[in-house]
Amino acid sequence: MSSEQQPDALFKLLIIGDSGVGKSCFLLQFTEGDFKEDHNVTIGVEYGAKSVKVDNKLVKLQIWDTAGQESFRAITRSFYRNAHAVILMYDLTREESFESLDDWLREIKQNSDPDVAVYLVGNMLDLADEEREVQTDSARKFSEEHQLDGFTEASAKTSENVTDVSVAT
Ligand code: GTP
Ligand code: MG
Repeated sequence: MSSEQQPDALFKLLIIGDSGVGKSCFLLQFTEGDFKEDHNVTIGVEYGAKSVKVDNKLVKLQIWDTAGQESFRAITRSFYRNAHAVILMYDLTREESFESLDDWLREIKQNSDPDVAVYLVGNMLDLADEEREVQTDSARKFSEEHQLDGFTEASAKTSENVTDVSVAT
């Protein structure tokens, strides 16, 4: 695929969730197949892009990775508009990040287009055996109750389910 090729479609994605759940690592794994152990707190919003082939069409994904820290909320809010899909992320080893999901859904309702698709992702699947705090069934139930468009557990570290999630949108 040549880099100059014009995309047949543009798809805008937003990643939201508490600070430290792995949003930036997820983006890095998806766009570059790389992982970093450090938590470089996102300041405001970072941008990543990747083109994928779907049904022989070139689809360009534009991805905005937002800061989870509360102090950046006013900045990140302005990026919800025009997003086709939101990846709502929690850390399955940290119950608290799952409990924040109600607040994040409220942010989506208040700032997104009404027909935006929302995908729930429980990150840190590689740590599930030893450190899991959020059961898969609880998250699936949450996803169904709120009529979200999809749910999966994934690992930004091992890349398990990272590509699937993003392309499935
Ligand atoms: P903010 O930018 O502050 O909102 O945080 P963030 O959600 O972008 O978190 P970030 O991607 O920076 O990851 C936080 C920490 O979790 C880092 O130390 C990562 O190395 C680690 N991490 C992220 N994803 C995974 C994962 O799937 N497995 C493991 N074991 N560690 C991860
Ligand atoms: Mg980040």
